[in-house]
Amino acid sequence: MINPPNRYLVTSALPYANGPLHIGHLAGAYLPADAFVRFLRLSGKDVAYIGGSDEHGAAIKIKALKEGTTPQKIVDKYHSLIKETFKEIGISFDIYHRTTEPIHHETSQDFFLTLYKNGAFTELESEQYYDEDAGQFLADRFIVGTCPRCNHPEAYGDQCENCGSTLSPTELIDPKSTISGSTPVLRKTKHWYLPLEQHESWLRTYITEGKLDGKEHHYPEEWKKHVVGQCKSWLDAGLQPRSITRDLDWGVDVPQEIEGSKGKKLYVWMDAPIGYVSATKEWAKQHNKDWELYWKDEESALIHFIGKDNIVFHCLIFPVILKSYGGFNLPVNVPANQFVNLEGQKVSTSKGWAVWIHEYLKDFPSKKDELRYYGFKIMPELKDSDFTWKGFQEAVNNELVNNLGNFIHRVLVLTNKYYNGVVPVFDESISINAPQESGLPTWHDSELLDLFDRLHEFRSHIKAFDFRSALKIVMEISTAGNQLLQYNEPWKQEKTDPDLVKVVMNLGLQYVTALSVAIRPFMPFTSDRLRDLLALPPVQEKGEFVDLMDALSEGKHLISGGHKIKKAQHLFTKVSDEEIQQQIDKLMQSSPEPEEVKEKAPVKEAASFDDFSKLDLRTGTITAAEKVEKADKLLKLTVDLGFEQRTVVSGIAGSFDPKSIIGQNIVLVANLQPRKIRGILSQGMILMAENKEGKLGFVGAPEGWTKGDIVR
Ligand code: MF3
Ligand code: ZN
Repeated sequence: MINPPNRYLVTSALPYANGPLHIGHLAGAYLPADAFVRFLRLSGKDVAYIGGSDEHGAAIKIKALKEGTTPQKIVDKYHSLIKETFKEIGISFDIYHRTTEPIHHETSQDFFLTLYKNGAFTELESEQYYDEDAGQFLADRFIVGTCPRCNHPEAYGDQCENCGSTLSPTELIDPKSTISGSTPVLRKTKHWYLPLEQHESWLRTYITEGKLDGKEHHYPEEWKKHVVGQCKSWLDAGLQPRSITRDLDWGVDVPQEIEGSKGKKLYVWMDAPIGYVSATKEWAKQHNKDWELYWKDEESALIHFIGKDNIVFHCLIFPVILKSYGGFNLPVNVPANQFVNLEGQKVSTSKGWAVWIHEYLKDFPSKKDELRYYGFKIMPELKDSDFTWKGFQEAVNNELVNNLGNFIHRVLVLTNKYYNGVVPVFDESISINAPQESGLPTWHDSELLDLFDRLHEFRSHIKAFDFRSALKIVMEISTAGNQLLQYNEPWKQEKTDPDLVKVVMNLGLQYVTALSVAIRPFMPFTSDRLRDLLALPPVQEKGEFVDLMDALSEGKHLISGGHKIKKAQHLFTKVSDEEIQQQIDKLMQSSPEPEEVKEKAPVKEAASFDDFSKLDLRTGTITAAEKVEKADKLLKLTVDLGFEQRTVVSGIAGSFDPKSIIGQNIVLVANLQPRKIRGILSQGMILMAENKEGKLGFVGAPEGWTKGDIVR
């Protein structure tokens, strides 16, 4: 695969069926994929767009325990809700499947067994917590205890949500089973591992050079930098064996042919991505297609749309699984998005700090494309972005209503008013005024080439997964259309120069018709309504964009003179201040401030004044910084204390670019016992503030302060 593909297998991450969808999900992995596949179909490509619910894993079990019900009931409930929500908001999956289906269990077991037989796994016995009262081993999430780092009393076996530390269950102080409440005991258990470290070398070539099995596979520069960056830092840190089975009673059984399989399930991240394969099989069965063509043929391209937290699974682990099985294509791109924040704060489903899509649809039933539009506008393509209700209102009112909607409405209204809805014939011999920005003497000369150029650019943005920019072009076309009207003022000219107005209106209608296709990937509902108003057949997503570009390049018209359109209607209406206020109020109720306070780490036990005064804290400035080789978290810093220079190794590389911190004022613990870290003698420690997201900030004297001063 390096040639332009003819066939695409496009996936969106399978959401966990343990809660409804929110705006972060939507803008992260679904809207971009949907626009992409709609555009591929408009370009006449063969596409299978695969989705489904991820219904296994400890998170589902926990939700069931919390709600006093069974995992099956939980996934049934959320699967239907999620499926319906996707349909309502117009995510055009070719199939929306689920991982509890038998075909998925069969497919995952086939994968497991085949990999097992191919010798792709290693086996390891280890000690794990066992709940004697419940008679089962405990997954990390089912153990709570006191965090060894921050003393938070309710840390989980895999993570402390208070301080963000990654933990292992045996580190917890005073562990308890969340199932029975009893103290678990350690017992021996066997698990299977994927020895990722054995795959490091080809993975590195695949990710960084785009080569696979000695052949060009894809252009690595077409991958997003943050995706390649994250993969590289995993590779640089050294890959570890990863266990792919669990002692759980919910999930896909480890095939019984394998010795010691009893009571073991596949780890959810082992079975979930295989869900893409099983869903494709089901889709193929229903539509009489050959699923293997989409997964194995050289001319098929596999593309995964995901959020950034899923990068390692899709770029490293799943490729290892696919390659170990043999015969499968590996992704040619994984255009992961970053996260969407809400009103400046991280989305938190547990605190209800979210915009739930199914609730939005109830509150704004006729504004589906408006949410999609704003979702594209704030798409976190390269960095985290922020959803704000005010921003949503402004985007709808200023851009959709005042620009796009207004242009289309004016064209439709005037066509009805002057010509009773019949598209006027374009008279080649008449020149009309072009706006200066177009750089053309008259619009007549440009014919429709300007539109062609813009749409050409539009297409390259979509191909590069830059949906924000593609959408901007749509709006620019609309702006140009508005200018066409503004510069020629048909409402005035109709009396004095009706022939000119015919040309203006004809061109306006060509623009509107082009827009009915170009908005399709982003606003499919509006596209349908607009086609209806134009009395044209709906866009079926069967090569219409190709037809459009062909017509434009040949100077052909998109809507013919003599065609009769329908009466005008507004495509968009404004969002009122009250509506926005209601949403903000709803949000505020869901996240009472005290939660924040509860979330802070408890104050540590008392230290005497003497304890404190033993520390020698000094002001200083960072004068040099560089990465420590092969340690992705560490920076080697030179700190100027005025009276001497210190070398300090600091674990802040994940938060700061070395170049950006030169000159930073800091406070140094100057009498900390020197320590060798990665062969470098570190002479002190820099004070940092850390918030609950793990974000770091420097603590330092005001700018311009002298160095070497005592802090007390
Ligand atoms: N359920 C996972 C999540 O929400 C995503 C699974 S993607 C798949 O993070 F590839 F595993 F399906
Ligand atoms: Zn903690």
